[in-house]
Amino acid sequence: MNDPRESTEELGEVVEDLRRHLLWQEETGGRVLLVDAAKQAAERSASLRAMMPPRGAKSPPAAEAPAAPAPTASATPDPRPTPRPESAPTRSSAPPAAPSAAPAPRAPPAETPARAPAARPAAEASSERLIDVPQQAPPYPGPLPGVVEGERPTLDQIRRELGDCRRCKLCTGRKNIVFGVGNPRAELVFVGEGPGEQEDLQGVPFVGPAGELLTKMIQAMGFSRDQVYICNVVKCRPPGNRNPEPDEIAACEPFLRAQLLALQPKVIVALGKFAAQTLLRDPTPITRLRGNWREYQGVKLMPTFHPAYLLRSPQEKKKAWEDLQQVMKIFGKQPGSRS
Ligand code: URA
Repeated sequence: MNDPRESTEELGEVVEDLRRHLLWQEETGGRVLLVDAAKQAAERSASLRAMMPPRGAKSPPAAEAPAAPAPTASATPDPRPTPRPESAPTRSSAPPAAPSAAPAPRAPPAETPARAPAARPAAEASSERLIDVPQQAPPYPGPLPGVVEGERPTLDQIRRELGDCRRCKLCTGRKNIVFGVGNPRAELVFVGEGPGEQEDLQGVPFVGPAGELLTKMIQAMGFSRDQVYICNVVKCRPPGNRNPEPDEIAACEPFLRAQLLALQPKVIVALGKFAAQTLLRDPTPITRLRGNWREYQGVKLMPTFHPAYLLRSPQEKKKAWEDLQQVMKIFGKQPGSRS
């Protein structure tokens, strides 16, 4: 006999997965289409009703239930930080934010500006049906910065292309762009989320408390920081270590992809959900992604927990270590070896 509590838990997980999937779709523009579909259904039912004789004073049929209001072009953008698609571990080493600093709960659809995929004109999106909703954005939506078609860029070229970047709002609060550090011929690359305070001050990734832990993890794997390459999804510090927002990730991600193209490592370790979900275009929570080999553009990718999360949840270190041991195997390293 099934334990009813287990079934309830499983059902809860399914519902949570669905919720996250919808949120992800929403952030990748899918919600526009979902809402459009709802709007179209409502419009169809309204015009049908207009053509039909009244059916008495009965309660309206299901089709007349209010549909989700469609976003309009004049909807006022919600200036509050947008929470990420799932609440699983993030990098912030700060304790859980006080209510006033916490991201506001997601606004209901009518108040939230629809974020259509950048390359898709609004008119095109609005004519699409649910069946056309793209589940995943293409991995290379456009030319990579600093990359000449068919050529492998160098990190220097990409850094030059980045310049004194003003492509997103993070530029206003940053002290330094944190491009990346390490061996340009590294076979092992670690990708984090975004610079924290120390990183912003020094212009070097992972030099704060989470960085200290990452350095220990790298050493425990039998590498030194100089042997590997370390970078982040976003290159400028999000104010107060908040999560990077979708537009910020979108602005910076091409540079990360260009870096990985330049490096062509053997293995990428994605630290935390932002790195893993961004590179994989997969909204699965990091708790599920971690520990399972994936592929990024032909390169083996291991998602694992972010060191800042491990600082907050040390009981999870064992799992992260298991993930890293899988990576070590690829390099023929044994725990304790330093070569
Ligand atoms: N957290 C990150 O994700 N990156 C850093 O560089 C530092 C902390």
